[in-house]
Amino acid sequence: MLETNNILQNISSEESMVDKYYHIETYGCQMNVYDSELVSGQLLKMGYKETQDLELADIILLNTCSIREKAEETVHNRLDSLHYLKKNNPNLLIGVLGCMAQNLKNDLLDSKPYVDIILGPDSYRKISQIILNRRPLANHLVDTKLSKYEVYDDMFPSRKSGINAWISIMRGCDKFCTFCIVPFTRGRERSRPIKNIINEAKNAISEGFVEITLLGQNVNSFSTQEGDFTTLLNDLAKIDGLKRIRYTSPHPQDITDDLLRKMSEYENICNYIHLPLQSGSTKILNRMNRTYSKEQFLNLVDKIRQYMPNCSISTDIIVGFPGETDDDFIETLDVVSKVSFDFSYMFKYSSRPGTKASEYTDQISEAIKQKRLEKLISLQKKITLNNNQKKIGSIQHVLIEKESKKSTDFWSGRTDGNIWTIIKKTNECVKDIVPVRITDAKGVTLFGENINN
Ligand code: 5AD
Ligand code: SF4
Repeated sequence: MLETNNILQNISSEESMVDKYYHIETYGCQMNVYDSELVSGQLLKMGYKETQDLELADIILLNTCSIREKAEETVHNRLDSLHYLKKNNPNLLIGVLGCMAQNLKNDLLDSKPYVDIILGPDSYRKISQIILNRRPLANHLVDTKLSKYEVYDDMFPSRKSGINAWISIMRGCDKFCTFCIVPFTRGRERSRPIKNIINEAKNAISEGFVEITLLGQNVNSFSTQEGDFTTLLNDLAKIDGLKRIRYTSPHPQDITDDLLRKMSEYENICNYIHLPLQSGSTKILNRMNRTYSKEQFLNLVDKIRQYMPNCSISTDIIVGFPGETDDDFIETLDVVSKVSFDFSYMFKYSSRPGTKASEYTDQISEAIKQKRLEKLISLQKKITLNNNQKKIGSIQHVLIEKESKKSTDFWSGRTDGNIWTIIKKTNECVKDIVPVRITDAKGVTLFGENINN
């Protein structure tokens, strides 16, 4: 293994940048989508072009996720399936970026010797140097040092044109939930300066985006000398042309009255909060180190609804956490019913080596996890449909995003509360926000008509 810093000064590049192609695949969360855009930005600056054709690619990068075992398996399988490309193209570089690179570097080096580059989430700055100097390398290039400071503040993401621009505002996590690998793969919390985030948002608008989604592992732990997350939202909301602001994912502990007040004040801050519950049992929440009880979570939801009566709330839930009894699971179902989440991302607990919960001795069987997951999904489906049906007859403001996949006569867009809505095309255009009377609800989708026509 070679460490990048030692070798790069000694190698000079003879590469020409004519007709060089990269291919990047992104697994996992939105932060990875953003990071892939940062890496793409560097490669495009070097003269590389993006391709979806693996045979054409000179560099293939997988930006990976370690949150659950399955996410890692997917990438292992994908890497196995890419190996053959090296036979036809011995100069092909294969790289693993992101959380798996951080988490499994030794494992990858042992089991996948054909992987050339392994870069953790704080090492993407190195990518252009590495590629420029790639020819003389006969060895792996590994950099997984985590940084207390790296926020990629001066690097520009290359975004595909569209409606929503992802903007990373902070990185890392200091919460150490006992099930979660993120504090280990992404390191300590650090925030970007407010003025640079504002500039990035303004740039995105000048490129044609109308919505931004602020990203962070704990987005509302954002903290700088110039202000906190509420200050940032306040400054962003005033930007001309910014039609919608979303953010993900907050931690319930850091949702303040100030933040909720600010959200209710500005029309362009969406009335939508993704509020990860994880479990409805106070006992399990304690063992997860979530820092709130069932009652505190329910009180927080009440407070959110006092400030924003129509606020959509979605959540993340884990079933089968070590020690979860039937009664604990019933507490989760109880919170799901009481809150009536508009949408949930539901997961079976996946043991992550290195985390505290992986050492708990009372792990739950796969069969029980599966049964609980199915029960939870079935409850949430009913609640989602019920919440959506209650919207029939109401007026929702829909941002038109694209043509419906099912028919060219219809648009597809999202409500303020993040619900996909299908409307018949009249004289509205992509990027317009239009008042839509909801006429039907099926599954997770709403249907309606623009009342301005
Ligand atoms: N097993 C299952 N789900 C997990 N999550 C995080 N770690 C694990 C794990 N070990 C879920 C949490 C988190 C979401 C992003 O992924 O619900 O909010
Ligand atoms: Fe993981 Fe908890 Fe941090 Fe979220 S808050 S990234 S679940 S440790």
